[in-house]
Amino acid sequence: MRALVSGITGQDGYYLAKFLLEQGYEIHGIVRRNSQKTYGVWDGDEQGKKLIHFYYGDVTDKTSLDSIYREVKPNMVFHLAAQSFVQESWSNPEVTYDVNIKGTLNMLNSFREYTPEGKFYFACSSEIYGKVQDEIQSESSRMWPRSPYGISKLAAFWTCINYRESYNLFVCNGILFNHESPFRGIEFVTRKISLAAAKIKLGLENHLKLGNLDAKRDWGFSGDYVRAMYLMLQQDNPDDYVIATGETHSVGEFAEAAFRSVGLDYRNYVTTDPKYIRPAEVQYLRGDASKARRILGWEPKVKFNELVKMMVEADLGRFSKR
Ligand code: GDD
Repeated sequence: MRALVSGITGQDGYYLAKFLLEQGYEIHGIVRRNSQKTYGVWDGDEQGKKLIHFYYGDVTDKTSLDSIYREVKPNMVFHLAAQSFVQESWSNPEVTYDVNIKGTLNMLNSFREYTPEGKFYFACSSEIYGKVQDEIQSESSRMWPRSPYGISKLAAFWTCINYRESYNLFVCNGILFNHESPFRGIEFVTRKISLAAAKIKLGLENHLKLGNLDAKRDWGFSGDYVRAMYLMLQQDNPDDYVIATGETHSVGEFAEAAFRSVGLDYRNYVTTDPKYIRPAEVQYLRGDASKARRILGWEPKVKFNELVKMMVEADLGRFSKR
């Protein structure tokens, strides 16, 4: 079995490729050419990197995708590449729309042309619920995105459904709620906090500036969520699934738990800076993954406190070695 993964250099691409390798898959990943020749998370795993077939390409460049699809002929496509930082999407809405909407359209068009018998997974997001209309959000909840990022994911979500219905393709949307790990990018709040808690503990820093401490998220572990992506493509019929833990915590609670895990009180180190406040905020997310549980047999394994601890310990390890 051959899997093609866009966004392979990020957190989810890394966990997904590791998981698929264990299942005996051949992994082909799309990487954007850059002068530093960096491979993201794989640069910390030279052994793992050797097992992946990398191709230079860009989801906004259909010509590059066509030649990759022609060469790889994947049985399964996992389209994870995105401009994934919500805050950035207000400063760069056009890039966000190009990469997230046009990029998805390009991936689907190449898929349709070269491997229409294959299966396609799209990394959609709980940001499509935005200004939530239900206490707990499921596949049938009303969608009300609050950022250019959320809008781009909603447009791509409907594009995937439309391709499924128009051309009878096997295309699934994973509506993933926030999922984190020690490989999370440092611009995202959980990693920003775990890094700061570790550095403060080690005496390398002395404070942390955050934005909205009251925002609530349903945070799970990336390693658990990539299993759900795989399971969606193992079914007989394509469908859309919410993937979430069902638990919600505030940013302040995350900070509290992270600092507590190194014996510190976050209130002595965390201040708020208006720079990190978003023009329109998604105040609350909590997902209902009962459909995934029922049909895919999927369950998250890592609990909130374990996730926080895992992230802080990894950052402590990284910086105490220096
Ligand atoms: N990044 C960041 N930095 N967020 C902060 C900060 C800060 O200093 N202070 C408070 N926050 C709040 C944000 O306002 C937001 O409410 C929450 O922390 C989470 O922010 P992020 O970690 O940046 O993630 P996100 O929820 O906006 O988006 C992530 O999850 C989505 C799924 O719901 C990303 O991974 C998206 O790509 C993904 O689709």
